[in-house]
Amino acid sequence: MSTINTTPTRSREPAIRVQGIEKSFKDVHVLRGVDFDVKAGSIFALLGSNGAGKTTLVRILSTLLKADAGTATVNGLDVAAKSADVRDSISLTGQFAAVDEVLTGRENLVLIAKLRHLKNPGGIADELLARFSLTEAGGRKAATYSGGMRRRLDIAMSLIGNPPIIFLDEPTTGLDPQARIEVWQTIKQLANNGTTVLLTTQYLDEAEQLADRIAILHKGTIIQNGTLDELKRLLPAAKVEYVEKQPTLEEVFLTLVGETGETGETGETGETGETGETGETGEAGDKELKEAS
Ligand SMILES: Nc1ncnc2c1ncn2[C@@H]1O[C@H](COP(=O)(O)OP(=O)(O)OP(=O)(O)O)[C@@H](O)[C@H]1O
Ligand SMILES: [Mg+2]
Repeated sequence: MSTINTTPTRSREPAIRVQGIEKSFKDVHVLRGVDFDVKAGSIFALLGSNGAGKTTLVRILSTLLKADAGTATVNGLDVAAKSADVRDSISLTGQFAAVDEVLTGRENLVLIAKLRHLKNPGGIADELLARFSLTEAGGRKAATYSGGMRRRLDIAMSLIGNPPIIFLDEPTTGLDPQARIEVWQTIKQLANNGTTVLLTTQYLDEAEQLADRIAILHKGTIIQNGTLDELKRLLPAAKVEYVEKQPTLEEVFLTLVGETGETGETGETGETGETGETGETGEAGDKELKEAS
């Protein structure tokens, strides 16, 4: 007996396969033939500007919306023909938090566990509260949570039942840097435990931090798809005098998308000079000199 063929075919299949997906809303042709694969257990980032069609694609893959053309499989299951089975394999954390504000954090989790017919909903809720550093806040109404706490609760809710594939639509939009880092750690943990993550983002650093592969959705198609290193290699390393500079993913993205105007806010990094540490040490040095003389 050969051992080569004993691995089930499914485990070698991509967790998500998107082929020729098209979608229009009236005369707006949003998706014009989208193709990509997502390897099982990896983090895949879909990058695109506002209105590029990221949420539309996530809604198609999570069976909330029907494509006009093309096919997509999730966990080996066709999203159109096997939508109920697909829903059992996935969770979706939408762009806008799905938390019920009237309930406490713990009650939100218990509710989902009950809806999923799981045993010991209270135990599941407590385990997730602990994992997402929400144990203390668990008894408070979600309406009193900060944006980061609400987002963490939202992701915790979507993990109930351990779906093998999760969709996160802009998981950190509106969060402060600390809360973003916490959510990033959560997402990394998920992938380390074998969950496949497809996330959409407009934050290029988020894709750089998290993603095994990055695809850029622009004008209805995927215009680039690769690892961070592959995308960076698309642009020659710029030379500034004697220092070789690597292009950032942001530069790669803006060059590929061909627009520079609207997203230029990130260029204003001159404020970092405020720390003034060199000035302070200079003063200390002066004092020492004066004292010495
Ligand atoms: N139900 C709908 N009816 C009509 N137009 C829609 C509908 N849903 C999306 N659109 C349009 O499709 C385009 C893509 O929208 P989508 O929400 O997928 O973009 P997005 O990439 O998620 O943007 P954002 O970064 O702002 O979330 C937009 O022009 C939007 O107005
Ligand atoms: Mg969106």
